[in-house]
Amino acid sequence: MSRDSEFEAEASETRFATASAQPRGEPVAGSDAATPEPVAEYLKRHEHKPLLRFITCGSVDDGKSTLIGRLLYDSKRLFDDQLAALEKDSRRHGTQGERIDYALLLDGLAAEREQGITIDVAYRYFDTDKRKFIVADCPGHEQYTRNMATGASTADVAVVLVDARKGLLTQTRRHTFIASLLGIRHIVLAVNKMDLVGYDAAVFEEIVAGYRTLAGGLGINDVQCIPLSALEGDNLSSRSPNTPWYGGPSLLEHLETVQLSDQRSTSGLRLPVQWVNRPHQNFRGFVGTIAAGEVHPGDPVVVVPSGRRSQVARVLDANGDVAQAHAGQAVTLTLVDEIDISRGDVIAAAGDPPEVADQFAAHLLWMDDAALLPGRPYWLKIGTRTVAASVSEIKHRIDVNTQERLAAKRLELNEVGYCNLALDEPIAFEPYAQNRVLGGFILIDRQSNATVAAGTLDFALRRAGNVHWQHLDVDKAARARIKGQAPKVLWFTGLSGAGKSTIANQVDKRLHSLGYHTFILDGDNVRHGLNRDLGFTDEDRVENIRRVAEVARLMADAGLIVLVSFISPFRAERQMARERFDAGEFVEVFVDVPLAVAEARDVKGLYRKARAGQIPNFTGIDSPYEAPLQPELHLHADGENVDALTQQVLAYLKLER
Ligand code: ADX
Repeated sequence: MSRDSEFEAEASETRFATASAQPRGEPVAGSDAATPEPVAEYLKRHEHKPLLRFITCGSVDDGKSTLIGRLLYDSKRLFDDQLAALEKDSRRHGTQGERIDYALLLDGLAAEREQGITIDVAYRYFDTDKRKFIVADCPGHEQYTRNMATGASTADVAVVLVDARKGLLTQTRRHTFIASLLGIRHIVLAVNKMDLVGYDAAVFEEIVAGYRTLAGGLGINDVQCIPLSALEGDNLSSRSPNTPWYGGPSLLEHLETVQLSDQRSTSGLRLPVQWVNRPHQNFRGFVGTIAAGEVHPGDPVVVVPSGRRSQVARVLDANGDVAQAHAGQAVTLTLVDEIDISRGDVIAAAGDPPEVADQFAAHLLWMDDAALLPGRPYWLKIGTRTVAASVSEIKHRIDVNTQERLAAKRLELNEVGYCNLALDEPIAFEPYAQNRVLGGFILIDRQSNATVAAGTLDFALRRAGNVHWQHLDVDKAARARIKGQAPKVLWFTGLSGAGKSTIANQVDKRLHSLGYHTFILDGDNVRHGLNRDLGFTDEDRVENIRRVAEVARLMADAGLIVLVSFISPFRAERQMARERFDAGEFVEVFVDVPLAVAEARDVKGLYRKARAGQIPNFTGIDSPYEAPLQPELHLHADGENVDALTQQVLAYLKLER
């Protein structure tokens, strides 16, 4: 991969790219009529200039679009046809009378123009003689917090806009907090619309003092405060005579010169392997983008998490062998030894490898309409690795507007939580504060494949590393053999009143009389003991099923045939239960009756109470039931034929002796 295409890929696909917040990726979208310069072309022309990525954030009327539009305009990198289109558009849609409305350079989509707001994340490219820039324009509305996170995840600098007349707002706090959460260490506080407060130094100083307190509390030390008028061009690309009391740089000067910390020196080599290139027998190359450190031929390396060691034979970039490569570069490595390495592994400096763990404390920004439920398995994607993971505990939720810590049992859309995470397998990682690639992750819903959260790893939980599996001499097979049976889990799922417990009870009686060793786990009974602390909210049902699945697994390990009779309304948790068992052990039995039939039976009188509003979250009434898509057994249980249904289960099991 060449350097150009690497930048191109990064520019059009962010690290926390989400299905719903895809960057548009086109350069300067001034008008539909304008021909955009291809990104690759642009990057090629400016290949040797350093790149700075920044985001702009502010509330709706802070003048953010005008600010970026003006930066693009002043950098004189717009094409003539785009300028013509802009002038035309300014007259048609603009809010500035006969003057150019710079905001129109940004509000690329017609729909947005009509609504007068900016949605999604728009990436723009411009350059000066010193640097090239990629700017992510993030909307200010609270509901677009996730878009801001998308833009912030790759940015080096955040430009936080405030309106001089309004001072610091709730949004200012939210944007600053998310910027700090996502590891942005350099902030520009752009105090805009100074013209509307008569360029008053006192107004500026008061806002600055308040902001320094806020940023200091979040551990952000590099804050450059600039008094601006985006509309008038004050202190934007050149210093303004209207603010003689301000001795600092203009915004553009600052962006051209701000010193960024260098990832190269912070740690040894980390190369997350993206793919293994094996064109023929004599070449096996490990391809990826270096996340930290440097590499040279001859360097000793270790593969994490396997711990295998070797030495770098060759380092190649798009043009062939090189003597050295560093963080940010896409390379292919070959090693001296033939060792097993696959996608998702990390090749690291032998003397300074990253940590390996499977439980973490992490911050999560929840981005899905459906809430995060602790205990539910999601895919966790970190670097090039994907593993199953769940939130084992929400420590607290953080109010993004006030940074207050609040108790929480779930996280809703746009909420941030501090959580414990448990992964199914150990991974190589680094705290996000040290390395964004090996510490930043996303969670993906396993049913819909949508990105549901962005997160940052804080540290590994030590407790995980100190608990080991104890070897037991009498194993599952020995326990099953002595009982003369194969362990099984019959998982009965269906609405309350469908007949799960009745059928399970009947099957159990038959198996018992045939001499099988069985046990029934019934929802109503388990909820009197082990799960006495759980109610019927979604998160409690997830935990209810997680615990009963664990108990069923212990019982299967004991060699038993286990009959589980729980509504278990969610596909995700039934899938989680299934994955705890060996192939062929888990039998999902869907006890299917129409809601009307279950409700008409109403054996316990609960449906009547639920309809009367006395039982909230009742399955089928105001809490969902997700029917199995491919159950091993589908019982149509709306007739009064318990014996026939029991027979169907036994026939499936082929257990008659
Ligand atoms: S599950 O959804 O978490 O799997 P579980 O099977 O343990 O439910 O418990 C269901 C039983 O609890 C029902 O058979 C019913 O008797 C009782 N119950 C009480 N409140 C509710 C409710 N809100 N929704 C469903 N069942 C309820």
